[in-house]
Amino acid sequence: MLNQIKEHISEVEKFQANTAEAVEAFRIQYLGKKGVLNGLFSAFKDVPNDEKKEFGQTLNELKTKAQEKVEALKTALEEKEDQSGSGIDLTMSAEPMRMGSRHPLSIVKNEIVEIFARLGFTISEGPEIEDDWHNFSALNLPDEHPARDMQDTFFIQRDPDYLLRTHTSSVQVRFMEKNQAPIRTLSPGRVFRNEAISARAHCIFHQIEGLYVDENVSFADLKQTLLHFAQEFFGKETQIRLRPSYFPFTEPSAEVDISCNICKGKGCNICKYTGWVEILGCGMVDPNVLENCGIDAKKYTGFAFGMGVERITMLKYQIKDLRLFFENDVRFLDQFTSA
Ligand code: PHE
Repeated sequence: MLNQIKEHISEVEKFQANTAEAVEAFRIQYLGKKGVLNGLFSAFKDVPNDEKKEFGQTLNELKTKAQEKVEALKTALEEKEDQSGSGIDLTMSAEPMRMGSRHPLSIVKNEIVEIFARLGFTISEGPEIEDDWHNFSALNLPDEHPARDMQDTFFIQRDPDYLLRTHTSSVQVRFMEKNQAPIRTLSPGRVFRNEAISARAHCIFHQIEGLYVDENVSFADLKQTLLHFAQEFFGKETQIRLRPSYFPFTEPSAEVDISCNICKGKGCNICKYTGWVEILGCGMVDPNVLENCGIDAKKYTGFAFGMGVERITMLKYQIKDLRLFFENDVRFLDQFTSA
């Protein structure tokens, strides 16, 4: 009997297997319910007492060896599988990281800000909830002025009026109230108008307005600054065209077109076959506005301009529907990478 066990031990030691099935068959043969070991353990009671000790020890040795063998073979097989690539490859790198992208409106806003920053303009910000003075009255739009209807306003409270700012000109009023000339400032921000949402209009949009106040600032300075901006942003070959317009806070006022950057002036449906597209409103700051903000209008003059970031972005990327900016569809947003 003892010899039989010893033979099993050497058999176990010699055993090799290349497949999981062979290892499992070996396990069942030795360690299974009806396996060799259970058979020998049940024979234990018939072993004469003086042999029990050696028998027991040898039997335990067989059991341990069989268990160790099964574990060793299993581990070896798993390692082999990993290396051959059919299992989990632990050396593989983790899931690739999904990089976010900047919102197209932010890309364009940053680009515009950088162009004017190189001309010495600083950024100023102000509240989105405004009072009547900063949004209207200080800008030469006294109570009952008909031009107040040019911008459909969301009122929060009447008398005294609080409203959602309809333009960031309000920020420039705040800036002039706190700072003396010379002033060169740019105010980007969200503005609100009570308009029906469509492919071309939204009740929330973004503006960048600029203000330059100093001695002897002229309309020529305004024109040159805007030409420089248009060529930096849309390309060196871009031309600008100024058309007379009306804003209560500037006199004279103008609307600025650029030569169509898509058809290069030949005519396309973006420029409605005119070769020109409108990009902003501008003018010389009305002396009343300067005085309202505590700046001596006899000594200083200034120019101001304001543009819609959505509009500029649509022109730059040829986006046909403004609503896309606010839907946050990643299939749309993924397409934009900033330089
Ligand atoms: N505030 C004007 C608007 O929102 C734009 C503008 C700014 C026009 C400065 C002239 C000068 O429509």
